[in-house]
Amino acid sequence: MKVHINEKRVLGKRDKMIYGHFIEHFHRQIYGGVYEPGSPMSDEDGFRQDVLEAMKKIKVPVLRWPGGCFVSSYHWREAVGQKRTPMFDKSWRVEDPNTFGTDEYIKLCRKIGCEPYICTNAGTGTPEEMSDWVEYCNLETEGKYARWRIENGSGKPYKVKYWSIGNENYGSWEIGAKSAVAWGELVRESAKMMTHTDPGTELTAAALTDLEWNINLLKNCKDYLRWISIHEYWDGINQTNDYADYGQCMAYTKDIGHSIDEIRGLLTAMKLEKKIKIAFDEWNLRGWYHPNVHTIRQGLTKEEYLYPRDENDDNSKYTMADAVFTACFLNTLNRNCDIVGMANYAPIVNTRGCIYTCPDGMVLRSTYFVFDLYVNYLGDIVLDTWCEDAAAMEVKNKQGDTVPVDSVDILATGFSEGKGLALAAINKEAGEVRSITLSIPCEEKDGTMSYLANKVSMYSLSGSSTESYNDIGHMDVKIEERDLGHFHADMVINLKPHSVNIIRIGD
Ligand code: AHR
Repeated sequence: MKVHINEKRVLGKRDKMIYGHFIEHFHRQIYGGVYEPGSPMSDEDGFRQDVLEAMKKIKVPVLRWPGGCFVSSYHWREAVGQKRTPMFDKSWRVEDPNTFGTDEYIKLCRKIGCEPYICTNAGTGTPEEMSDWVEYCNLETEGKYARWRIENGSGKPYKVKYWSIGNENYGSWEIGAKSAVAWGELVRESAKMMTHTDPGTELTAAALTDLEWNINLLKNCKDYLRWISIHEYWDGINQTNDYADYGQCMAYTKDIGHSIDEIRGLLTAMKLEKKIKIAFDEWNLRGWYHPNVHTIRQGLTKEEYLYPRDENDDNSKYTMADAVFTACFLNTLNRNCDIVGMANYAPIVNTRGCIYTCPDGMVLRSTYFVFDLYVNYLGDIVLDTWCEDAAAMEVKNKQGDTVPVDSVDILATGFSEGKGLALAAINKEAGEVRSITLSIPCEEKDGTMSYLANKVSMYSLSGSSTESYNDIGHMDVKIEERDLGHFHADMVINLKPHSVNIIRIGD
């Protein structure tokens, strides 16, 4: 297949925040994940130094916290100051010691150099509690909450710019779920108080691909919101843990950007597409495994709803299917960079995250290396690309239907600072090599032919099979670098099966 790239056709400049992440008070994401006071692997503030280094290497640009469902009955005041009040978290039905709160979270963000992004409690919370949190974080000295922050050791405000009002409050599973009408009113009043507290905040609110919910939200709150938040987990195995196999995961890549298309359409229809951006602030191929947790069946035991969560820790389940799917979605986010300004992989540490921790070590799962490739090797200017004679394949989805999908997914990028091109070339085939022919106009530029004779390097992730994974003492998925010589017109490059490749042409 021939890939036509025209660097004059720029789709946009992607915001680095599309490579963002999410961490929730669930299972071992915080306690025993990034935060482990007393561990010989932790620093003086109790943060796992190996995890901090791994987060810095993929340049985490923004970290959403503290939930997720957790937040909808969370009261931030109980987790700041000298006296912490353990709370029984009614979302996940466990006690949270509240020893990791706002101050620890901000410290984490400072250590990894990322923007904080706080999701507030719009389940049992109030507009006042949300705006008090903004006071605590962002006011210099005015009011009791800024003074409380100072008393707790942080003299300067945290300047938290990104705030979400609520998390999935449309869902029956959410504590304090709301109707569409009630939601519009609550978000409006919350946004009013938060904006009055700090007009420098950028607010978003929980939404989904539902017209009634979104129209009501946007009619009430379009003047207050800079973002609209949506979530998606494609392999919904929260209750069953019945992982989709490689072919079924590839079936999920068909129409992978449908949620973005639907929200774009609504924003455009309401003439808001230039004012409000999409924050895809929870996404992962795999739903988190937490069976029965939303069940109100009498006599439920911890063996039924709590202990099974450890099965998320099975590293052998995070294979090249997860890596290839993740790359396909990152390509989609880049292609929609005009309207998607933030995305948060859910989560970053443990559960289905790209980093797994245990008391004496850490595993970088296959998806970690996809972020490494996209953050560290790909460009930030998204170029229009089209494929001639695009290869296709047929796969079976979980329902047993035959689904046709493109075999190859190509994204072309340039660099706002620097020269050259970088392509993200994904071969979804389970067993077939796919060849691409690069058609890049080699016009005269300042008297020299552009790209001709430029060095071509390829950074590839493929593993040895579709089932390749990483675990303690087992490293089957890592980035391999190849020198492909010098660029020439109609250069042909072979993509290994089940592979994610960054092809760098020029510097
Ligand atoms: O499975 C984890 C949950 O998924 C998050 O807490 C919530 O936001 C989403 O429904």
